[in-house]
Amino acid sequence: MRDGSPANVTRLADYLPPAYLVPRTHLDVDIRDGHTLVTATLTLERNPARDDRPEDLVLDGEHLELLSLSLDGASLPASRYREADGRLTVFAVPECFELTSVVRIEPEKNTALEGLYRSNGMYCTQCEAEGFRRITWFPDRPDVLSRFTTTVRADREHYPLLLSNGNPVASGEEPEGKEEGGRHWVTWEDPFPKPCYLFALVAGDLACLKDTFTTTSGREVALHLYAEHRDLDKLDHAMVSLKKAMAWDERVYGREYDLDIFQIVAVSHFNMGAMENKGLNIFNTACVLAHPATTTDAAFERVESVVAHEYFHNWSGNRVTCRDWFQLSLKEGFTVFRDQEFSSDMNSRAVVRVENVNFLVNHQFPEDQGPLAHPVRPAQYQKIDNFYTLTVYEKGAEVVRMQHELLGARDFRRATDLYFERFDGQAVTCDDFVACMEEVSGRDLSGFKRWYSQAGTPIVSAEDRYVDGLYSLTLSQHTPPTPGQADKQPLMIPVKLALLDPQGKPLALNDQGDTETVVILERATQTFSFPLPVKPTPSLLRGFSAPVILRYDFDETQLQTLLAHDSDGFCRWDAAQRLYFSALARIIEQGESAEQQLERLRPALEGVIRRAAEDPAQAALLLTLPTETAIGDRHSPLDPARVHRAAHAFKVALGRALGEDWRRLAESLREPEYRADGDAMGKRRLRMLALAYLGLAEADGIADYLQRTFRDAACMTEEIGALGILVSNGLDGAETALEQFAERWRDEALVMDQWFAVQAAVPGPATVARAKALMSHPAFEWTLPNRVRALIGTLVNGNPSAFHAEDGSGHRLFAEALKTLDAINPQIAARLGNGAARLDRLREDLSTSLRTALSEVREGASANLAEVLDRILG
Ligand code: PHE
Ligand code: ZN
Repeated sequence: MRDGSPANVTRLADYLPPAYLVPRTHLDVDIRDGHTLVTATLTLERNPARDDRPEDLVLDGEHLELLSLSLDGASLPASRYREADGRLTVFAVPECFELTSVVRIEPEKNTALEGLYRSNGMYCTQCEAEGFRRITWFPDRPDVLSRFTTTVRADREHYPLLLSNGNPVASGEEPEGKEEGGRHWVTWEDPFPKPCYLFALVAGDLACLKDTFTTTSGREVALHLYAEHRDLDKLDHAMVSLKKAMAWDERVYGREYDLDIFQIVAVSHFNMGAMENKGLNIFNTACVLAHPATTTDAAFERVESVVAHEYFHNWSGNRVTCRDWFQLSLKEGFTVFRDQEFSSDMNSRAVVRVENVNFLVNHQFPEDQGPLAHPVRPAQYQKIDNFYTLTVYEKGAEVVRMQHELLGARDFRRATDLYFERFDGQAVTCDDFVACMEEVSGRDLSGFKRWYSQAGTPIVSAEDRYVDGLYSLTLSQHTPPTPGQADKQPLMIPVKLALLDPQGKPLALNDQGDTETVVILERATQTFSFPLPVKPTPSLLRGFSAPVILRYDFDETQLQTLLAHDSDGFCRWDAAQRLYFSALARIIEQGESAEQQLERLRPALEGVIRRAAEDPAQAALLLTLPTETAIGDRHSPLDPARVHRAAHAFKVALGRALGEDWRRLAESLREPEYRADGDAMGKRRLRMLALAYLGLAEADGIADYLQRTFRDAACMTEEIGALGILVSNGLDGAETALEQFAERWRDEALVMDQWFAVQAAVPGPATVARAKALMSHPAFEWTLPNRVRALIGTLVNGNPSAFHAEDGSGHRLFAEALKTLDAINPQIAARLGNGAARLDRLREDLSTSLRTALSEVREGASANLAEVLDRILG
């Protein structure tokens, strides 16, 4: 629905418990050609927690055509209820009663992908956050938990598979269906009370990969993974990941699965990554399908972590859920922390941590420092869809991680045991979570809780002195103002640290000989002292122990010491980043030459390359430059073309200066045969990076080499990797390779997404015209969120020198895309709209051009998009 009127603001402070509870829900979903009939029978009870004894029942509903309504079996006359503005009010209802509604909906026309919709010939649902109200009238809020019984009916031939939450309990033929050519039904019962956002159903003709898992207590769980028939061979990795996740949650959190069956369905049209519906997870195909021929190593890793994430929600989210949507991070922050730790245990911990931090720093920090900044637990919203943010997810995970750090692993586990036991079957708050941490540890975390309510990235400044054998480290904190929050209070910040001697060895910090410690910064400024034999190089914020910006005036020797010797993977990587950022700053601000800067860094980088064989994935991380977006964020005003020139020149210099090393790596890391393990993935990663530098440097023969790599690739990582390097550097054979690729993969949607993305990522203004042309490519679909993200999302979020092309063409294309999308899928439009958040940081002419383009879109924008644009436009 399009409406430009200022949407209602919902406030945390206004929270009231629900007026009526719904202990039981019976749904009958009758899927017909062109429409679906939903009959809902709700058992309702006035909530004893509401002593104001409300007499009217208010239900939520959108895009529903109400066909009939009855109370305790008697049809209700129109005078007994009113339907307006997405609400159904039934007047003067009794304490306890049964309400039955019949509604008609049109899933075939649903392009917003919320509620019940059709995707590639199947029907599926997405109810979080407020999609259930598009299926039937219901109190659509997470603190109303109900036991669901669901019957799904459809044509047997086209929809042989009818799924919902819980266990299947009955099925049969429809009498009328016998003549019509076979309609059938299946009834599912979910024994666990759940909020309606966890409801799901699927009807389709899908292939299934089956396996089982036996829980610690001996329950055998059937594992069913569904996808389109052609994708059956892409489900193995998800199955392996699922079983690992189930075992991990038992081992690390003592959490077992609780139903007889766990199902995952892969869906092409999906707004987000995946959804944790009870017993019936629904996944974006991009987050579950994987095959070496079509899927990159990075995507393999993503599948493993998303499968685990959704599985972990069964406890952190489903068994214990959120009281209201302000508490979203209660389930998301915690579950992201859980999936990050799982990935760390399954792969290289140091590499996973750096990747997670890199993501946070490059994406959540800018969010927290711009017009869209909000606390981990927001205090108000217009559309909750707009708050599925990096702050709620990624910063929320860091906030849980800090509690883990403060309590230690043992007490943290005791606290989560208490949390799961005490709140099982309830809808609770972030405060309830922290209260368990406090109770178990005996610590007062009231100061810590500001992390939930205070927005913005804290800046921690460190200064040190070494006098007469005493090293003093003074830490100060400051959080800059964010929209609506001018004054900030000090936070409780755990700073893990070590102090290295000139050879890079950690010094003993106390009589016990500990070489690492955590100091807690709670006030604006504090000093910590250590008696030491020499002046140390501080290794600060080890493991990224708090989501803060650390300022310390490292000199180059110190950074080189850290890069060469620090045992902490994060600090090594951070040292490399600091070296790159300062080299780039000298090029950008002082106009120094890229070659000159490269020469200064060269010994340090050669050191990394010499040790690359120890851990190729880590070496690849250390040798990867910050993105142009990240570089741009450090210079004001933001001038993307200038940043691009500097970054490009530096990378070319790096490609040339270390050409022999890159060649050697490209050859020595080549594997005779494809292997899927972590070691092989690490090697491929470093090898593709080496090729990227050779491509940038246009090294002798590199175009031929890349064409061969592309042609003979043993897996998609190599194939798309080689293609990307050819295309982004405009090397010989790039266009032919693009054509061949599209021809070869035209039937593989997820591969075609990569084809679009590779082209949208080419730096420079010419990409705007290419993107525009691609918008009319027959394979481009506005209704397919993955495709939109691949083309437009890549351009807007990953290619600043194209998006902010000097002639404003990128801005106009963006505005056009937003308008088109908003009419189809407001959630996706709003999410894409976030890409304009740097508006005020841009060089003035660029900022004006973007503002003009967006102001036009604001008129007639959906509530979702309007909320985002209003914040950005100010
Ligand atoms: N709850 C999902 C997850 O993070 C994300 C999601 C939100 C999916 C809203 C769809 C809609 O696991
Ligand atoms: Zn989640």
